[in-house]
Amino acid sequence: MLFIIYFILLLLLFKLKRHKQYRSPPGPKGLPIIGNLHQFDNSKPYVYLAELAKTYGPILSLRFGRVPIIVVQSSKIAKEVLHTQDLNFCSRPSMIVFQKLSYGGLDIGFAPYGEYFREIKKISVVYLLSSKRVDSFTPMLQDEVARLMKKINSLSSSSKVINLSELLLGYSSSNICRIAFGKRYEDNEGSRSRFHSLLNEAQALFTAFFFSDYFPYSGWLDKLTGQYSRLDKTFKDLDAFFEEIISDHINPNKSESESDHEDIIDVLLHLKNQRCFEFSMNHIKAISMIIFIAGTDTSAAMVVWAMTELIKNANSLKIVQEELRNAAQKKGEGSIDKTDLANLEYFKAVVKETFRLHPAVPLLAVHESIKKSIIEGYDIQPKTQVYINEWAIGRDPKIWKEPDKFMPERFLESTIDFKGYDFELIPFGAGRRMCPGLNLGVTNIELALANLLIHFDWEIPPGLNRKDIDTDTLPGITMHKKNPLCLMVKPYL
Ligand code: HEM
Repeated sequence: MLFIIYFILLLLLFKLKRHKQYRSPPGPKGLPIIGNLHQFDNSKPYVYLAELAKTYGPILSLRFGRVPIIVVQSSKIAKEVLHTQDLNFCSRPSMIVFQKLSYGGLDIGFAPYGEYFREIKKISVVYLLSSKRVDSFTPMLQDEVARLMKKINSLSSSSKVINLSELLLGYSSSNICRIAFGKRYEDNEGSRSRFHSLLNEAQALFTAFFFSDYFPYSGWLDKLTGQYSRLDKTFKDLDAFFEEIISDHINPNKSESESDHEDIIDVLLHLKNQRCFEFSMNHIKAISMIIFIAGTDTSAAMVVWAMTELIKNANSLKIVQEELRNAAQKKGEGSIDKTDLANLEYFKAVVKETFRLHPAVPLLAVHESIKKSIIEGYDIQPKTQVYINEWAIGRDPKIWKEPDKFMPERFLESTIDFKGYDFELIPFGAGRRMCPGLNLGVTNIELALANLLIHFDWEIPPGLNRKDIDTDTLPGITMHKKNPLCLMVKPYL
């Protein structure tokens, strides 16, 4: 008996010692079982987390049910996680929605780190979204810009207020649909609304709460709340959508293909047929799914934010319009293309400043730690979820002077860029999980923004003033402006 008591005491002592040695980042105290779930503000998590950083510092820990979470909110620690120790932090958690919509982790965005991820990421970087491939899409992107300009021109004659947010979402969906699927859904009201409702529902699911992600044996609760059936329905709808697109590509006579270039599905089918990679149809559907979700509305959101800030900051608007119009005039064609934009310093600074203040994906995508690591002297356990608060880094007063002010000038004297090397500005992430769509996203944004500014004069609707143009945001993975940006427009002659 004495021996058993002695053994239990020894075990307790050992546990206590281990517990003492283990040092996790500070954070708000949670409740037993649920942890910090009840405190979390899901409507603007990046603002809530930035507030917590004032008390707990730039790395903090939370717990959602059984899942340990750390949040990183400084460029120095972001560099440690996404660069120095990237290999320890570059996986993704296996969450219910990710697993289902990615056909069991077959896509680029949600595959856990490993051999399959490395292969599929290489395919996306080398074959699907390389700068050479994006260059091959450029005539098509320019055609979409021309259509957008034509549409705005026709609306401008009625001297009504136009909803720029809606027009830009149409522009950016058309780009992705033509590039990825060889189709324009915007032309037909029925297919357009099917496309947008699928996108909305899929994106809403990414922020939906599933008990089973945080509590063991709680799948019955997700059944009870109807979350599983909602997920199943969306998955079936998306699957049918991708099935149709792939069949159209395999059998071009089945329905008229609008594609006059090799789109992403063509490339994937080609790789499959060449047996370069062991691809099933599910692989192709999963990759299409992530391109559809990650690529469609991010660019539109950024152009809306850039136009919002410019209309609120008349001086910046004037400078950037002058720079663009001079360049277009010099060229003599009244318009400019991607290569001309590379030399326009102020315009480039406007784009960077917009990314700094309004990153399209403010918390990046959640990472998961692979093995035990030490960050800033704190122990991080394997399978900890890691959020990087890019929104907070972009507004860190230790890095940026007057951080809440829109001042493109700050980038004129600075070499900081958003390509994943400068951790003060990482709207596309960095390291192994960095966004492979950077080239395409930036081209989409720059072409639309430059042309909107060259061809039109923009004004605040009568009765409103600059202060009335708000910067409120909608909840979701992509940070959209809450209220659509509605402006008066006049063609610039
Ligand atoms: C303004 C435009 C865009 C922004 C700001 C953006 C931002 C991001 C961010 C922050 C991530 C997560 C990085 C991380 O986890 O650390 C990401 C991942 C990803 N993005 Fe983008 N993105 C944009 C456009 C696109 C486009 C146009 C595509 C494809 C057509 C795309 C495809 C992807 C994919 C596949 C991933 C997952 C990468 C991985 O897990 O390894 N993105 N993006």
